[in-house]
Parts: sequence; structure tokens; C-alpha cells
Amino acid sequence: MLVLGIETSCDETAAAVVDGAAPIRDRIRSNVVLSQLAEHAPYGGVVPEIAARAHVEHLDRLVTQALAEAGVGFADLDGIAATAGPGLIGGVLVGLMTGKAIALATGKPLLAVNHLEGHALTARLTHDVAFPYLLLLVSGGHCQLLSVEGVGKYIRLGTTIDDAAGEAFDKTAKLLGLGYPGGPAVERTARTGNAARFDLPRPLMGRAGCDFSFSGLKTAVRNMRATLGPAPSAEDLGDLAASFQMAVADVIADRVRHAMYWFDTQHPGVGRLVVAGGVAANSALRERLRAVAFEEGFTLDVPPPKLCTDNGAMIAWAGVERLRAGLVDDLTVRARPRWPLDPDAEPKPFAGVKA
Ligand code: KG4
Ligand code: ZN
Repeated sequence: MLVLGIETSCDETAAAVVDGAAPIRDRIRSNVVLSQLAEHAPYGGVVPEIAARAHVEHLDRLVTQALAEAGVGFADLDGIAATAGPGLIGGVLVGLMTGKAIALATGKPLLAVNHLEGHALTARLTHDVAFPYLLLLVSGGHCQLLSVEGVGKYIRLGTTIDDAAGEAFDKTAKLLGLGYPGGPAVERTARTGNAARFDLPRPLMGRAGCDFSFSGLKTAVRNMRATLGPAPSAEDLGDLAASFQMAVADVIADRVRHAMYWFDTQHPGVGRLVVAGGVAANSALRERLRAVAFEEGFTLDVPPPKLCTDNGAMIAWAGVERLRAGLVDDLTVRARPRWPLDPDAEPKPFAGVKA
């Protein structure tokens, strides 16, 4: 069961071949990721038009490379998976059209994958995780808690009402002059810092439900930064980065706990938490989640960092899962800039109430 995966929804151009029939350690036959960091760095963020052009420029070569590293040709594939949204529409179009062209030319089935589903199912590629499980998805564009009931079956328990967690990291990095991408830079700077020095807000913490909010925290960081004068010391920056990271971890831990209570009412005795998305690469957050999972009697699985950030293997794997479930798409499928995993998401009444 060999599936090619193509990912182009943001600033990573990626292609991979995954073997769905292989044991876990042999599943990823190739996973090529080209980060466009250098192209976007001068602007301090992703520029959609630049991203789309870079995808056009590099994708063919990356697909060829992914096939070569996997030691397979188009004829050996069982399916072609490409991200069809959500994301920057120019980039999504490049990847999906490439996927369609390969599917048409080879006669292989096309799998139009929701990027969020790629993140959501990654833990089943890297670990032996059965449905259902509670998913914390924390990336640059998304911050959500979902109950993953099966392939294509998601219940959204909460989402951010303003910024995503990764966005908060990126904006904080910019405010502190740490460069781009922000998450790893903030983590590095925070390592030596005193997280107790700055008293930053914890938006929505302690409130009912599982929604997130980070914009107030970002504003507080900006105000704190202003008090440090034009040339803050490395110590100041380290302390502020550490205080910010601690506030994010506190908020996320609180929201996850609420989601666990809800999950327990729906799936008593299951107790399974999975984390995905680029921010899951943050080791302070991982440690905090490990503690929460231990206290609440949940198991915790986090894919390795390079499979938490955007990559082609997660799209190929979602393709494998969809192919198995018979969820094949035809060539008329459209690219979607917005595409919620749970189309009828509403606030969940039990969230935040301990069972
Ligand atoms: O999943 P991802 O690669 O792309 C999206 O789909 O958004 O996530 C990228 C986000 C960026 O905001 C980046 O700053 C953040 O993940 N990130 C981190 C870390 N590594 C990446 N945030 C905090 N700590 C990290 N170590
Ligand atoms: Zn992503």
C-alpha cells in the first residue's frame, strides 16, 4: 500500500512516500521537506504569493526525489494524496493540481487530504494508537482540541477565538527581535530565562470550555517589552521569553484538562491524548502535557518533532487511511482555503466539568 503525499499549504514544499502495509518503523519510505524560510525571513512572516511561486518552482523536483529515495516509480503507487486545504490558496492549488495531474496520468486514485487531518492522524503513523483519542492540534494556523472518532470523524471541542498558539510564538519572537520562525527562537531564548519574572495574563484560563485566546497575551508581551527600553539585555529577553512560554503552557494545560473531562464522559476508560502540529515540537509544552496526562490518567503520544511540523509523510499517511476507508476523490475536487474538520462544531456543554 504505497501512497505519495504532497504538501504545499503553507511555507513548506513537501513530498513523501509512505507504505501503509509496513510495520511502524519501516512505513516512511521517503520524506522530503523544503522549507522556504530564507524566502520569507526578510518579511518576518509567510508571504502567500512568494510561497505559491516557490511551490511551483520546487515541487516537481521534490516529487521525483521522494520517489527516487523510496526506490519506486509512479507505476508502483497505490494512491496519490495531496493537501486540498485549508491553507494559503495559491500553494494549495499548486499541490492539488500536481496531485490531480499525476493521478490522471497514472490512473491511480486521488486522495484530497485536509491538512488538519494529516496532523490529526500522524500519531497513528508513528505510534500504535487506536480510535478514539483526544487531539490537541497546535500549529501556526490552528489551535484546536478535537475528539478523533475515526477517519473523517472529528468532534471539535474548542478552538482559538483569535490567534493560534504558533502565531503567538511567532509574534512574540518578532516583538523580542528574535527572528523568524518564532517558535524555535522563543524556545531557545527561554531556556536560560526566569519564567517567574514577568507576570503575564493567562487568557480564558479557569473559564468553562476548551476555547483558546492568545491575543491578550501577545499585547501584554508587547507592553512588557516596552518597559525594557530600547536595548534589553539577553537576560531580560530570556526572562520575557520564558514567562511567555510558561503562560502558553499554563493556558494549554488548563484547556486540555477540560477536554479530558469531556472525553471521559464520552469514552469512559479510554484516556488517550495525542498532540500534533508545529508547536508540539516545544519541549516545555511537551513536559507540561506529560504531567497533565499523568495526573488525569491519560496516555500521551507525540510524534517526533519533524513529523509535528508540516511534511509530506503526514499527508501520505492520511491518504493511506482514506484509501483503506474507501474515501477516494475524483478529479473535480476543489482546493479549499477554509475547511474545518468538524463542519458542525458547536461549544460542548460538558467541557470543563469534571465527571
Ligand atoms: O504545523 P506547522 O509546521 O505549520 C502550520 O500548519 O501552521 O507549525 C508551524 C508553527 C509556527 O508557528 C512555529 O513557530 C511553531 O509551529 N513552532 C514552535 C516550535 N517549533 C515550531 N513553537 C514553539 N516551540 C517550538 N519549538
Ligand atoms: Zn500544519
